[in-house]
Amino acid sequence: MSTSTTPPAPSPYYQRHVFFCLNQRDNGERSCGDFNAQAAFDHCKKRVKAEGLAGAGKVRVNKAGCLDRCAAGPVAVVYPEAVWYTYLDLTDIDEIVESHLKGGQPVERLRVPPHLGR
Ligand code: FES
Repeated sequence: MSTSTTPPAPSPYYQRHVFFCLNQRDNGERSCGDFNAQAAFDHCKKRVKAEGLAGAGKVRVNKAGCLDRCAAGPVAVVYPEAVWYTYLDLTDIDEIVESHLKGGQPVERLRVPPHLGR
């Protein structure tokens, strides 16, 4: 007689994975690149590294193209929690790094409203 068991879920390679939309449109439509997304991405990478959070089993910060939530832009999303953020300046990025990426506590005030898409 065999016993049926579900294999354990594999451990994620990264504890948290952050994607910043860096899309820049040149047709006049709103895009995250219009709101200093590149500077926010660069700052987040720098802060994550400085805090010792970067690497396997920890945090990875990646560039992304359009994530189709342009109306809320600039946006970034943190997995596995799937928390969508918008931000105004680099102090908002500091708060996401400190509270969410370091402390595991999402920053509620920076969450994208759930109905905002493209
Ligand atoms: S341009 Fe950033 S989500 Fe679409």
